[in-house]
Amino acid sequence: MQAEIVNWARWQQFFKRRSERQLPELDTSEDYSALPASLAKSLAIFQLGESGGGTIIEQARQSLIDDIDSNYANAIQLFVDEEHRHAEILAICIRNLGGNLIRRNWTSSLFVFARRLFGLRLKVLVLLAAEVVGICYYHLLAARLPPSRLKSLLAQLVNDERAHLHFHTDFLRTQTQSAWRRVVFVCAWRMTMLAAALVVLIDHRGALRDLHLRNATVLRRWRSYARLAERLVTDSKSASHSKSKLLEDAVAVGTNSVHGLNFLEFEHPGASAT
Ligand SMILES: [Fe+2]
Ligand SMILES: [Fe+2]
Repeated sequence: MQAEIVNWARWQQFFKRRSERQLPELDTSEDYSALPASLAKSLAIFQLGESGGGTIIEQARQSLIDDIDSNYANAIQLFVDEEHRHAEILAICIRNLGGNLIRRNWTSSLFVFARRLFGLRLKVLVLLAAEVVGICYYHLLAARLPPSRLKSLLAQLVNDERAHLHFHTDFLRTQTQSAWRRVVFVCAWRMTMLAAALVVLIDHRGALRDLHLRNATVLRRWRSYARLAERLVTDSKSASHSKSKLLEDAVAVGTNSVHGLNFLEFEHPGASAT
């Protein structure tokens, strides 16, 4: 297999362009009183999760991994900023729903603990799991909501998380160029995704129940995205030729449930092989 070089400067430019987006303003004109209180509680847990992540920036700057450079560290910084933007958008959603922000939660603490425990490679793997969870959960929630600003804000988050998924899989692919490394990745990835799925199903069971989202539906979508992420890491051909197509395929799973959501075009910054 040819070694792959990712153009991190293009990822940096990609995140830089997106960092110029204005934060949406609070809109109190829409009435969300018919929505269950559990939705705001559930989003508050995600809001807390989107607020952290600063330690990875220093780790990326100091890393001795050959396949990354200062552009990668800068892109990581902009990525973390984008996650903080998500936290602000979710805070707006929660306020619109009449809910409260939280400072502590056991799943967020577990996630932070896992991230801090690991080096850069495993930390990115945990972040990738968070992207899969975020894409699926925001997507399923948005699909259950009537046309509204809340729905379009959640769809925006889904679009951002899809780009993050590619960003992290680009990095992990450069770190799994040998067969044994790919085996280690697949084992660690499947275990992490299983743990993440169980934790989220338990912690968000109130909102899932109140929005009539069955566990089987959530798990099916997670599985399709987890497989997609796995393919993007372990299969260079899939990654270089059909990134957007693969994402569309995954999004298309359970088409009825995503009806009414508009996804922005995502143009992958690209990777090259030498
Ligand atoms: Fe996010
Ligand atoms: Fe993300």
